Amino acid sequence: MCGIIGYVGDTAAAPILLKALRNLEYRGYDSAGIATIHNGKVSAEKDVGKIDQVCGKHDLEKLPGNVGIGHVRWATHGDVTQVNAHPHFDCKGEIAVVHNGIVENYRELRTRLEPKHRFVSQTDTEVIPHLIEEYMDAGATLEQAVLQTSRQLKGCYAFAAVCVKEPDRVVATRRESPLVVGANSHRAFIASDALAFLQETNRVVFLEDGEFVILGKTVTFLDQDGKPIKKEFKEVDWKWDQATKQGYDYYMMKEILEEPQAIRQAMMQDRKLLLEMGIGILRSRQVVITACGTSRFAALIGRYLFSRLAGKFCDVIMGSEFQYFSDSIDRNTLVIAVSQSGETADVIQGVKRAKENGAQVYSIVNTVGSTLARMADRVLYLNCGPEIGVAATKTFVSQLTLFYLLAFTMENRLDDGIQQLLDICPLIEQNVKQNNKGLQVLAQKTRDRNDFYYIARGINFAIAAEGALKMKEISYIHAEGMPAGELKHGTLALVDHGTPIVVVAPDDYTYDETIANAHETKARGAFVIGLSEETNPIFDAWIPIPDVDEIFQPLVTVVPLQLLAYYSALARGRDPDKPRNLAKSVTVL
Ligand code: F6R
Repeated sequence: MCGIIGYVGDTAAAPILLKALRNLEYRGYDSAGIATIHNGKVSAEKDVGKIDQVCGKHDLEKLPGNVGIGHVRWATHGDVTQVNAHPHFDCKGEIAVVHNGIVENYRELRTRLEPKHRFVSQTDTEVIPHLIEEYMDAGATLEQAVLQTSRQLKGCYAFAAVCVKEPDRVVATRRESPLVVGANSHRAFIASDALAFLQETNRVVFLEDGEFVILGKTVTFLDQDGKPIKKEFKEVDWKWDQATKQGYDYYMMKEILEEPQAIRQAMMQDRKLLLEMGIGILRSRQVVITACGTSRFAALIGRYLFSRLAGKFCDVIMGSEFQYFSDSIDRNTLVIAVSQSGETADVIQGVKRAKENGAQVYSIVNTVGSTLARMADRVLYLNCGPEIGVAATKTFVSQLTLFYLLAFTMENRLDDGIQQLLDICPLIEQNVKQNNKGLQVLAQKTRDRNDFYYIARGINFAIAAEGALKMKEISYIHAEGMPAGELKHGTLALVDHGTPIVVVAPDDYTYDETIANAHETKARGAFVIGLSEETNPIFDAWIPIPDVDEIFQPLVTVVPLQLLAYYSALARGRDPDKPRNLAKSVTVL
């Protein structure tokens, strides 16, 4: 997803902007650029490709001046081309803008501006510098022009602007796209994500919708009417070294190995808060969990736990569909929003509608101060540190851990639940070691297969779906996960000689039926990959898992499937950390 950065400080902006953009790389992007202000001139370079490629073609690092803005673009409007890369400029090249989000009414604005302005790109963003230009030409300051411009824009956005007429400042604002301000005694930043500047400072302020910030000699905040407001800087406790590879080839591997620790950290919660939330869930007439992608699969397991341990039924609705159910959401509804980033636009939109209807909102997020955290009546944080690999791994097991804590709290067995979770952590560690080599071999063996099917029953159904999602997003092969019983209702038609079928079959009351479904595929020539405590003659390949109580199985079944996806990506020459077309934080609808 697009990432923006702005900087004003005591040293050259360009190297700092570049470093910040590299820290935002994990979000996923296709082009990059920066603009700085010096000696009454905007200097800018931008191009398609990764930051290193753009730096190979242009001397970004040498752009002069101590004030600047930067951008990594994830194309939404307009092709991936140099001209569509950010920054974008006004007609005179005196104003530069970087933007994250979508200006929904850009066509209308562009039609209005075009008679007097020269547009060069296909982007929605380009209307912003031209609008600022109009207002400044009419006598507005940069601050006033940004304020007036933002009133013209529909949609979600966060943007930052610089102008040669006010060379000492960056002005930025947001609506429904994240923007965080960071500052120390001699440098100030704005960025889409605090990770961008975490090496410089961990003192941050999250801008609210409609607010503005002016980075200059001091940092000034304005409300939506342009009146100065006071906002307090808070320290985020993420450490920069959590966001480095620390010797691993890829973040994804590092983050998989961090999973036992992530479970332990997720357990560090305020018991009073857990109790309040547990009671809130039990007392609500209806509970709806909303999430997207991997977070939704965690939610499906959460739903199972609430039902199994606390006898509480709830529904799970994917974020992008939630708003269409708003007719049945009211003040008796409790919505639980689950999101690693806390910034997923699909989830935010549904939660917003639910709040308008009077629903109460709990959030389960990793990013402190993120939009979903701020929208919620109560928040649980995953506490697992930043996750940089685009594919969610450690945040998934952290989300599961929070669902365990809530479900055990509702059952009044929290201490017992915590002890059982602690006991599982070393089993995961041993299992990773046990499977590591075999999974590499398996990934090589199946590297020419282009369709994978994953089946499971009961609590592990969502794990089959998650295993398939991991496989497709980083290996670029077709993969589907489904309840094992569902296979014969259609998908079986696709099973052919050698088709890999991943059978998640722990030894519980679902085992016999799941194995029976595996036999149905074997009879059609499938290559059966079994995950279970003991092997079975039907398995062509076996992935051992530790023997744990049924309700905890998702924690041990998911890890080998993450590793299988990881090694399959490597076997096919893919970069597991940066899958094509995907973004870490999906801030558009
Ligand atoms: C999969 C993945 C995505 C995210 C989804 C929701 O590995 O990363 O499917 O799970 O985009 O993101 P969050 O959890 O940030 O709301």
